[in-house]
Amino acid sequence: MFKLLLIHGPNLNLLGSREPGIYGTVGFDEINARMKRAAEENGAELRVFQSNSEGALVDAIKDARNWADGIVINPGAYAHYSIAMRDALSAVKLPAIEVHLSNIHAREEFRHRLILTPVCVGMICGLGWRSYLYAVEALIEILKDRLKPSAA
Ligand code: DQA
Repeated sequence: MFKLLLIHGPNLNLLGSREPGIYGTVGFDEINARMKRAAEENGAELRVFQSNSEGALVDAIKDARNWADGIVINPGAYAHYSIAMRDALSAVKLPAIEVHLSNIHAREEFRHRLILTPVCVGMICGLGWRSYLYAVEALIEILKDRLKPSAA
């Protein structure tokens, strides 16, 4: 069974009530419950970590090296400037998919710069809570592919 870590950065614990016109009305706990269910349905286990602190997020990424097979991460605002989180993701060498609920490219220019994306397998944005869903599903598919003798 694959073990996945879902990481949420700052302010994402407010999902549901935070700017619902941008981020949707599905609450933080509900998103996590849906992602755990989606992981289970696809033969994986998913743990969730949220923090508003960059250092705690770096530690969570580093700890994942000891137990996780892959990471889904919404870095929140840190996506746009955290070199420390990028370096942590590079260091652990786990496949990671970056997620944003909103379409960051349709928003303010400062959100167009993405620091972590180059060290992720891919990035999904603009699909609301489903950005997380498709990331979880894709990550499991990628991990399954890696087990095949001629990995795609
Ligand atoms: C976000 C986009 C970021 O620019 C913003 O700072 C967030 C949420 C998203 O999921 O759309 O906190 O990561």
